[in-house]
Amino acid sequence: MKKKRLLSGMRPTGPLHIGHYFGALQNWVALQEECDAFFMVADWHALTSEYQEAGRIPAWIRDNVADWIACGVDPSRATIFVQSAVPQHAELHFLFSCVTPLGWLERVPTYKDQMKELASKGVDNYAFLGYPVLQAADIALYKGEAVPVGQDQLPHLELTREIVRRFNHVFKREVFPEPQPKLTRVPLLLGLDGRKMSKSYGNAIGLQDSEADIRKKVHSMFTDPARQRRTDPGHPEVCNVYSWHGIFSTPERRAQIYTECTTAAIGCIDCKKDVAGRVVDFLRPFQERRRELDARPGQVEEILAAGGAKARAIADQTLAEVREAVFRVKAKA
Ligand code: TRP
Ligand code: SF4
Repeated sequence: MKKKRLLSGMRPTGPLHIGHYFGALQNWVALQEECDAFFMVADWHALTSEYQEAGRIPAWIRDNVADWIACGVDPSRATIFVQSAVPQHAELHFLFSCVTPLGWLERVPTYKDQMKELASKGVDNYAFLGYPVLQAADIALYKGEAVPVGQDQLPHLELTREIVRRFNHVFKREVFPEPQPKLTRVPLLLGLDGRKMSKSYGNAIGLQDSEADIRKKVHSMFTDPARQRRTDPGHPEVCNVYSWHGIFSTPERRAQIYTECTTAAIGCIDCKKDVAGRVVDFLRPFQERRRELDARPGQVEEILAAGGAKARAIADQTLAEVREAVFRVKAKA
């Protein structure tokens, strides 16, 4: 059976952290087996909000792709490429923007929230409003059939489906499949302070953090606020350190922590020391692979060059069909 074409992307806006791993990369690694996977560095999407710091983006591209590979994304199975290396994304974005009513974009649930949150970056620009249109073009350019999404991103994908449906309808040709969400269960991993893990909150553990940094960060984590003294029994169900045990410890160890916490047999300091060591062990193989990659300069660039060439060839085919559908003429070769 032919594998389903799958596309996903990530914006290169800084170093990756364990939230990126559990929220996306872990799934990418699993999906590259069963799907014809395309993984894209969404540098134009980054630019819609980071255009004032655009000079920093190229270094993040190389850094992020090296981490993808260190985490197990395999360039011999998946196509890894950079969005801006395939200018065809811009052409399809424009054509999609012609059939996308403004109201659809203004109604995207995250748009107004993000406008407020990122106000200092000047995101009252045209491109930021068009972010979901560009995302639709990313997927459709490769005739993506599946997109891995968490529950929270379903509205974005629904908009992509509406845009391609409308394109097919307006131009009376089934050029694009409607991509299906590939719903992925992601473990709930909150940041050090219990909020969503994010670089901008400073509450993340980087994939390349040193052992000393990891230990220091884990020791700063919030625990059960009711557990004031070492002799107070704790409530693991309200403790973020305990939920990290759920991700990094074995089920047996987790059950043991539960008992020891609720009977005050273990103190928070030892409990954190335990989980910190597990995070360090967990990241070690990724960090080793990353060091190997960094010792071979040019390797990431080669992978991106090959991925870009493959992506552009597919994009050209799609756009030939698109131009034919839009202008009702046979495209010149
Ligand atoms: N918007 C995604 C993010 O938040 C990145 C992205 C860009 C993307 N284009 C995509 C994801 C296409 C899936 C499919 O990082
Ligand atoms: Fe949390 Fe562990 Fe302290 Fe219990 S012992 S409150 S699980 S850090």
